[in-house]
Amino acid sequence: MTERWTVLSVLRWTAEYLKEKGIDSPRLDAELLIGDALNKDRVGLYLCYDQPLQPQELTKIRQLVARRAKREPLQYIVGHTEFWSLPFKVAPGVLIPRGDTEILVEEALRLLEDNTTSQQPVLDVGTGSGAIAVALAHSCPDLQVEAVDLQPEALAQAQANAELNGVAERLSFRQQDMAVLSGGPYRLVVSNPPYIREDEMDGLMPEVREHEPAVALQAGSDGLDCYRLLCEQALNLLIPGGWLLVEVGAGQADDVAALMVRHGLPETFQREDYNGIVRVVGGQAPAHTDKES
Ligand SMILES: C[S@@+](CC[C@H](N)C(=O)[O-])C[C@H]1O[C@@H](n2cnc3c(N)ncnc32)[C@H](O)[C@@H]1O
Repeated sequence: MTERWTVLSVLRWTAEYLKEKGIDSPRLDAELLIGDALNKDRVGLYLCYDQPLQPQELTKIRQLVARRAKREPLQYIVGHTEFWSLPFKVAPGVLIPRGDTEILVEEALRLLEDNTTSQQPVLDVGTGSGAIAVALAHSCPDLQVEAVDLQPEALAQAQANAELNGVAERLSFRQQDMAVLSGGPYRLVVSNPPYIREDEMDGLMPEVREHEPAVALQAGSDGLDCYRLLCEQALNLLIPGGWLLVEVGAGQADDVAALMVRHGLPETFQREDYNGIVRVVGGQAPAHTDKES
């Protein structure tokens, strides 16, 4: 790249280069990377297509493009993403929130709206960037959310995202292994846990396999390890009539629903995504416990 480069010519060159490297959306990624380097949004970039670029700008663009060409996720490179139409900081070491998980948030909000009499908090298990916890607190002005994760770097990022979105005073974060959950009782325990089978890990896209943390993805030989832990503990964590609500991988819904029933959550439901794949399974604790009857 020399000083003769303009925004448009660099954009075209970058899009072509990223396409050769196997990137799915090369033009969009090129726009976002160049926009990040020049501190402009996509419209701002469009408005300065003819602008010649300075050597230091070209150097910065080259560094960002080289990272993307090595299949580092765009969100890690620019340091932010959007979830539930809210801004989230993201950084290597913590899972990037996915659009699919918004279906879990939709279902959680539906369950919370159906039961306005309970005041107990919600527990988000494996909070990662805090996506679910922050989205719920942002949508329900009186809701208290507790969130746990194994990774200290996830908890620090979730705290920063709670502050960024103005909900930090109603969220509390703690380091806890989902094998030994405590606290409550909760009206809702929500989780998007790791659910990839060990033998599926090699087949994941390089962005995920080589750059996102395995601890956020992998869950034993059948992908169900975390659901077993959550279901085993659900009755001890939930109020009578409370819900366990989890995101599931493709093809896991019936096994997860069966685990819920086996562990004392007899009422279950499933929710499909917009491609017809079941993404969310919910199980309800009985309205009255044995102690009460
Ligand atoms: C699939 S990610 C979900 C992150 C976030 N909730 C989201 O939806 O974007 C799973 C999260 O569970 C955490 N995790 C994995 N094993 C755990 C365990 N044994 N106890 C607590 N958290 C765990 C990971 O650190 C990761 O942040």
